[in-house]
Order: sequence, then structure tokens, then C-alpha cells
Amino acid sequence: MFTLLQGQPQIDGSQRTSLARDYERFRSGLPSALEQYVQEQYQIDLSSEYGDLLIKNPFGKASGQLSLNSSQVRRDCEEGLGFVVLKSIIGEDASGTQSMSEWAIEETRMIVERIVGKDQTQGWTVSWKGRGWYDTFEEYLEFFEESLVIAKPFSLHVVPSCKYHLPSAGEGQWKTGEYEYTTRRLMEVWQRHYSHVPMPIEKDFSPTLAGSNRAAHAEIIIHWLTRVTSFIRNAASPSPIKIGLKVFNAILDDAFQLEMLRAINEQCSGQGVPDFLVYANRLFDPNREFDGVRGIAYGGPDLSARNLSVLAELRLLERSGAIPVCRLPISGTGNIVSGRIAAEYLLRGASSFQMHTYFQLPSGEYTMQTGGKTARALLELCFHPDEGLLAWLLHLRRLFDWPTEWNIKRMADFCMEPSNDVWAEHASALS
Ligand SMILES: Cc1cc2nc3c(=O)[nH]c(=O)nc-3n(C[C@H](O)[C@H](O)[C@H](O)COP(=O)(O)O)c2cc1C
Repeated sequence: MFTLLQGQPQIDGSQRTSLARDYERFRSGLPSALEQYVQEQYQIDLSSEYGDLLIKNPFGKASGQLSLNSSQVRRDCEEGLGFVVLKSIIGEDASGTQSMSEWAIEETRMIVERIVGKDQTQGWTVSWKGRGWYDTFEEYLEFFEESLVIAKPFSLHVVPSCKYHLPSAGEGQWKTGEYEYTTRRLMEVWQRHYSHVPMPIEKDFSPTLAGSNRAAHAEIIIHWLTRVTSFIRNAASPSPIKIGLKVFNAILDDAFQLEMLRAINEQCSGQGVPDFLVYANRLFDPNREFDGVRGIAYGGPDLSARNLSVLAELRLLERSGAIPVCRLPISGTGNIVSGRIAAEYLLRGASSFQMHTYFQLPSGEYTMQTGGKTARALLELCFHPDEGLLAWLLHLRRLFDWPTEWNIKRMADFCMEPSNDVWAEHASALS
């Protein structure tokens, strides 16, 4: 795997002892004021930004089966997540027509399986054959509203996600009615609770698109990526909206992934520039089978390997001056199963980390044996003495001499800045 952080984090013995002690004692439950505790004990400010929304910590639930009802959202609030992205709704127009209706499939069976990466790294993937939200739009709106109400006292941000119409090659027309109706209805709900804050939204380009005819041509994918933002923004107008493009892993090669990122950064202008990126949704294997369906999305070590490698390539090209710098905020997704991998995304400029699979492992995979999987995952992600984010932040702070006042967002900005020596420090890992 293309990683910069090898071996054990280089931190003081006392910090290591403290992490080992916390990792052990928080097995029975995380501190109720997690961020405050981390600030006092480790002088680390865990706050960050998702897009430009302030989040209390960088860990979020990625859109999917674990954010499709309000009890899941409540649990995530109680157990300390920084943000939750809701299951993707399939866009519809005022008459209820959904051009992407083939994505509104009810899940029948979902299993968490072990998977081995190309480099023999062991990991996990979730297999299923459902896709987007399969209840009505009205029910989604109710769920969205309930989630906003639940989350507000916890300072946790709830973000809708949508799969809007995308024209296939030769189709030409964009069904703007879906953009207008779906966006406006979502915004009505949002504005009842946050009248002065623009609504954030993720535009879901599903990995299963990679296996559909729609995505067969590189040209059409670039067309989607460079046009879709203005359709969403126009639909929201005159109200402001914060649009995150959730980039997908196409079945084309890594060079094309880079082309996708470059197209977003270099070809979008004015209203068409997204506010942030989510990088990047799962891989698609046209030959992988599940429950009688051939061709499914998958995750695991190959997903983070590909994402980290493409983002590294982007940053290295920027650093050499070969391409313009992409300063769009990034929310990282894809096999974030440890703080070490989260820190790898951070080094490539990600200021938040969103996960699905890691919240779904068999209970025995977590050290904490009480509470829900969100808290169990957070214990590992934060406090694991070798693999946790705190250990790696302490390591990076020492390496780069980061001031203790810096929060995660500030660190991500530093990593994004080509003139900083993030990559030179790790030259051996790059050769
Ligand atoms: C069962 C399942 C359902 C998902 N549904 C959605 C979805 O509706 N919309 C979306 O944008 N991403 C969806 N995803 C992708 C996740 O949000 C996430 O980006 C991806 O799985 C990579 O993160 P992970 O490796 O932590 O699972 C889904 C993933 C899984 C495993």
C-alpha cells in the first residue's frame, strides 16, 4: 500500500504510556466530553471542518445503511461522532418521477466479509445488492427533519446525500426538474432548523455507476463532474448551498481518477465550483458476485490503497508545479479502519474522515465490549497506542513542529500546501 506512516509512531514515552492507559480504561466507555479530555490530556484540538462547517471531531458516518433511521442517528450523537451523512435519496421531480429509479432498490441481505488486498493486507468489505433510499421522498424528508432535531443539542451535523439524474452518453438533456424539486424540498427542511447556515449536501456518484452503461465513457464522467454542481446550485438559488461531490472510483485506470480530480479543479468555474470533495467511494468489480448479482461494489485495503495513491499523485504533481493546486476541502472516505489510515488521508489534505465499513465489524473486532459500534470504533480510531489518530497526530506534530493550538483543519491545510515539506519528509516512502 502507498503509505507514508510506517512502523510505530515516534512519540514521547510518557505520551505512549498515557495512550496505553487511556486505551485500556476507556474499554468501559469513552469520556463524555471526549474532545475536552483530549485537549487537556494531549493538547490536541480535535475540532475540524467538514466542507466549511465546524465539527467537534473529524470522524463521521458515511452515507449508507447505517444512517437510514433516526435511532442510528441518535446513537451516533450519544456516542460522540462529529457528523453523519444520511443515506442517499434518489432525486425526483415534482411529479415523483425518478430517472435513477434503478438505484432505489431495497436491500435484501448485507454481509460483512473478510477481504485480502492485492498486497495481502487483511481487511473487511460489506457486500449487498441494495442501492439508494427505497422509501418515499416524504419519508426521507421526515427522517432528515427528525435527525436534525435529534442532532442539534449534540453539536453534530447531519448532511443529506442525493443521487440526482445524470445523463448517459447521447442523452444530452439534464433532467433539471429533479434537481430543483429535490434540492428545494431538502432545503425547506434544513432552513426550518438552520436559517442562517447554508445547507451542506453530498452529491453521490455511486460506485455502481462505474458498472453501468452510463459511466462507460470517460468523456461523460468528466461532463457530469464539471456540470453537476451548477445544476444543484441553480436549484437552490437564491439560497446558498454547500455542495460536496462524492467522487467515485471509475473502472478506468488511476490516471483517469487523477483526470477526474483535475477536471473538477481546473474546468469548473463560478457557480459550477463545488464547495468540497468527498474522496472516494468504493471500487467496483464487474466479476464479483453476491446473491446472484454479478458486478458489485467492494471496499477494504485496495480501496484505501487506490485512494491514497491517487491523492498522493495529485499532491506530488502540484508540488512539482505540473498542475494547479486543488484547495477544495476534502472529506476522506474508503477503508478508514484506523487512525493511522485517517492520518494518511490527512497528509493528503483531508480534514474529516467518514466511515461505513468500520462501524459494521463483528463485535469481537473491537477492544471495547460494551455500548454501540460507534463508541467502539472511536476508541480504536482515537486511542489505540500504535494505530490511533492521537498517536499519529503527536508523531506528526513533532515531525513538522506544529503548534499545539492547531486543530485538525489547520493541520490538513498545512498538508495541502505544496510549499510545505510533507512529502520530502517522507521521501523514502515515495521511492
Ligand atoms: C452497504 C453500503 C451502503 C452504502 N450506501 C451509500 C449511499 O447510499 N450513498 C453513498 O454516497 N455512499 C454509500 N456507501 C458508500 C459509503 O458511504 C462509503 O463512502 C464507502 O463504503 C467507503 O467507506 P468504508 O470503506 O468505510 O465503507 C455505501 C457503502 C456501503 C458499504
